[in-house]
Amino acid sequence: MAAKKRSSAIPMAVLVLLLGVGMVAAKSKKEKLCNKGWECKASVYCCNETISDLFQVYQFENLFSKRNTPVAQAVGFWDYHSFITASAVYQPLGFGTTGGKQMQMKEVAAFLGHVGSKTSCGYGVATGGPLAWGLCYNHEMSPSKSYCEDSYIYPCTPGAEYYGRGALPVYWNFNYGTIGEGLKVDLLNHPEYLEQNATLAFQAAMWRWMNPMKKKQPSAHDVFVGKWKPTKNDTLSKRLPGFGATMNVLYGDFVCGQGSVDSMNNIVSHYQYYLDLMGVGRELSGDNLDCAEQKAFNPSAEQSSTS
Ligand SMILES: *[C@@H]1O[C@H](CO)[C@@H](O)[C@H](O)[C@H]1NC(C)=O
Ligand SMILES: *[C@@H]1O[C@H](CO)[C@@H](O)[C@H](O)[C@H]1NC(C)=O
Ligand SMILES: *[C@@H]1O[C@H](CO)[C@@H](O)[C@H](O)[C@H]1NC(C)=O
Repeated sequence: MAAKKRSSAIPMAVLVLLLGVGMVAAKSKKEKLCNKGWECKASVYCCNETISDLFQVYQFENLFSKRNTPVAQAVGFWDYHSFITASAVYQPLGFGTTGGKQMQMKEVAAFLGHVGSKTSCGYGVATGGPLAWGLCYNHEMSPSKSYCEDSYIYPCTPGAEYYGRGALPVYWNFNYGTIGEGLKVDLLNHPEYLEQNATLAFQAAMWRWMNPMKKKQPSAHDVFVGKWKPTKNDTLSKRLPGFGATMNVLYGDFVCGQGSVDSMNNIVSHYQYYLDLMGVGRELSGDNLDCAEQKAFNPSAEQSSTS
């Protein structure tokens, strides 16, 4: 019996190998894979320019010009290098490398628009204007609750605290658990990593940008770069491709479907401010810029909040 099993297993392995080779060959005929050094490896997306070709250190400094002033909480924490290092994982998957140069720059502005809005300490009459203060924080300052919910899959670690941390702040044990699993880093036991390591903090934010909240739903990346086709139900719910739907994916009805609320307008303002500073210009913000009328992909009544 054991001998028979072994003899049939070998041809099987060979078959799998042959099939594998055949698939690679067929794929490379259709789409060429390219390498761009360490930053973008072995992907069709690497054949175009990479993020550091079109978004350079001086632009990062422009966007986040106030982050190292003494009143900022996270002085010295965030830098361009950590952003680019983090993106090396996601550029081969299309992050900032999809479409042509204009779409690529717009996606960087869109992603960083979310980040800037969520990490800003620019209030009202701050010098340089309220939009110049992105990446001021790397964690929540006065947590209002413990952010620990009973979970079989991601139980809270005694002593660990799950308040907001990172570039797109992560809250709650189950979100630390999910994202940690996605990044293969034990964030459930070590949520503090997100306020100790800027590369990891950007990586966690990019993971959220690139992954849907639920299976069969689009990611923020998908709705932004036009990789997503709305269903009839989506259209009826006013969910259409564009920047507005990225807010819907990430924040649902905490931000969307509430009319022209500050929480939504602040994110849009950061996106447009960054488009201007990057030389793209806000006139290219794209259709469906806000989500004032959109119904949430995942209504909060049915699930716990992620923000
Ligand atoms: C590469 O850029 C061109 C335009 O310059 C675009 O049409 C194409 O879709 C891009 N490739 C990928 C994989 O996004
Ligand atoms: C920070 O996180 C990155 C990405 O996960 C990792 O490669 C790096 O080793 C970490 N740095 C430190 C000092 O732990
Ligand atoms: C259509 O959308 C509504 C709310 O937006 C949702 O409750 C419903 O399950 C959706 N139906 C389908 C078939 O996806």
